[in-house]
Amino acid sequence: MIPKSKIDEIVNIARVEEVVGDYVTLKKRGATMIGLCPFHNEKTPSFNVSPVKGIYKCFGCGKAGNAVNFIMEVEHLNYIQSLKHLAEKYNIEWPEQQATSEEIEAEKERSNNRESLQIINNFAEHYFADILENDEEGRTVGLSYFEERGFRPETIKKFKLGFSKESWDHFATTAIKNGFNIELLKKSGLIKESEQGKIFDAYRGRVMFTIHSLSGKPIAFAGRFLKKDPKSPKYVNSPETDLYHKSNELYGLYFAKQAISKIGYVYLVEGYTDVISLHQSGIENVVASSGTSLTENQIKLIKRFSDNVCVLYDGDAAGIKASLRGIDMLLEGGLNVKVVSFPEGEDPDSYAQKLGAVEFGLYLEENKKDFILFKTSLLIEDAGNDPVKRAQLIREIVESIAKVPDAIKRSGFIKESAKILKADEQLLINETNKILRTKNTQPKNNIAEVAVEKDYREELKEILDLQLHDHQERDIVRLIIEHGNKNMEGYKNAAHYILHELHEHDIEIDHPVIAEIINEVAIQLEQNDLNIQHFVNHTNNLITTFIATIMSNQHEVSPNWEKKYDIIMDEQGANYLADIESAITRLKLKHIEKSILQNQEDFNKAITDDDVETLQKIHKHLTDERQHLTHKIGTVIIK
Ligand code: UTP
Ligand code: MN
Repeated sequence: MIPKSKIDEIVNIARVEEVVGDYVTLKKRGATMIGLCPFHNEKTPSFNVSPVKGIYKCFGCGKAGNAVNFIMEVEHLNYIQSLKHLAEKYNIEWPEQQATSEEIEAEKERSNNRESLQIINNFAEHYFADILENDEEGRTVGLSYFEERGFRPETIKKFKLGFSKESWDHFATTAIKNGFNIELLKKSGLIKESEQGKIFDAYRGRVMFTIHSLSGKPIAFAGRFLKKDPKSPKYVNSPETDLYHKSNELYGLYFAKQAISKIGYVYLVEGYTDVISLHQSGIENVVASSGTSLTENQIKLIKRFSDNVCVLYDGDAAGIKASLRGIDMLLEGGLNVKVVSFPEGEDPDSYAQKLGAVEFGLYLEENKKDFILFKTSLLIEDAGNDPVKRAQLIREIVESIAKVPDAIKRSGFIKESAKILKADEQLLINETNKILRTKNTQPKNNIAEVAVEKDYREELKEILDLQLHDHQERDIVRLIIEHGNKNMEGYKNAAHYILHELHEHDIEIDHPVIAEIINEVAIQLEQNDLNIQHFVNHTNNLITTFIATIMSNQHEVSPNWEKKYDIIMDEQGANYLADIESAITRLKLKHIEKSILQNQEDFNKAITDDDVETLQKIHKHLTDERQHLTHKIGTVIIK
């Protein structure tokens, strides 16, 4: 549990314009700020931020909320996770579960370690890039290598590519001269110590790739050897540190995450150079597994951003066959998996360079195949007519199909694979079920069960559900937000009147979230303090998004909402009484209609004559009331 006071602290410090500003370039326009929406593709800005109200709203796609909601959507985090994210941004201490003092000490040390390593890596990233750009050796060896590979200057800058000199210890001495601690430098993996106790650079004579965290910080490096030397490994990678756990990272995700969200799927490649070349070809939704097979955490990371993966592995069939098992893991994680293969001898990098941006983009679109069907076709070539091989093939396909968690998708795959295999569909169904049965008795794979904490998608669905909930109830909240503090004769204010009317006519609010808002308004009124900002910064994420939507919809007429705002308020001011009257009448009408239906049901079940008579009377009373209300709405509208 996070204490409410902590949530308040975070929400009060987090400025919506600063939080959004990390992702969107905002321009001032009157009292609001405007920019290109990060949630959908657009050329003219319709994404508004109101620092005064503490909310954002996109008039293009309708997304709205406060700083916390923004982080939820853009980083694909749930409510608590995004609070934590903001706490980190604003250096607010995050309450951890009660830990023992040793645990606290250990964590402090790790945290200090992480900070120091981060500073070293920042320095190193800058150093390697500087050598590549300005040093004689860096330019003739490193830069010309990248240029030969077709990397443009802006690409080299963007990915912070660099060079490490051939010299034994040029980096080490520079770093030490700059005050960095030798022990920490060794921990970072940037320098090493020989058995004789001599310090030397770990990446001598290599071009350097920086590996960035999800927030763009340099957390590790990889150095590629320039010559073909069977004795030297092609890449030297940073060791595991407190800052870098290889199995939790995907190369390129920092540069890809926005594009992935917008486009709705991610390309998965093997190498650093593949990521970079694809970016140059205008394909930014791409990440690399960095050679090794995927881990569960990497798959979860992908799932945070998208359910759809397209795997681009090296061309030849042998290469792809070696990765079939790895790709199965993606299926098991519940992802929709497609693959594109390349001609013999080509990888995504070489092929993108060869075809050029436009052709390459087309090639991907035209050659995307569903993974299971692709696997089926691939293996069927090998099996030919050999019955033993065919039986083996069917088993392998069925293995993949059984990994798909969604039953409907599974049966679709069975149908299509059966067609390709020219096999009996029922046979595939039986085989799949066999595997599923044995699987269900084994301990469950935990990827399929990530949703212990509420998934942000689920929360978004609830939000949408609330936005679509019937307008009569939503209108009541809107009126309280818009006019609640205004005068109302005989009452504390308009909100007080609205609540009084609901109470007086026994109108119960159906939607639990709206009911909660009304209930809290009632409490505030008791304390004579109707505070709208309380709802903007509420701990219930559904409430904040809902309120933000309502608050911005007031001005939906024009993107110039702040200008419009004053006008509307002036004009509407006088009309709010009629507005409130009309909304309450409509809600009453809805309520009456529900009662009429209920009464009719009771009537159908009535047994005694007395019952029938009573229910008929009630019916008459209700329909009279309905007529009265319908009439009233007519006059209110005309007025
Ligand atoms: P590749 O051999 O395909 O390398 O390995 P590459 O990045 O495409 O490089 P070029 O295009 O040949 O120059 C794919 C990935 O496997 C990891 C790296 O992450 C590499 O990007 N790898 C490969 C290593 O970590 N160490 C190695 O020795 C080789
Ligand atoms: Mn390559």
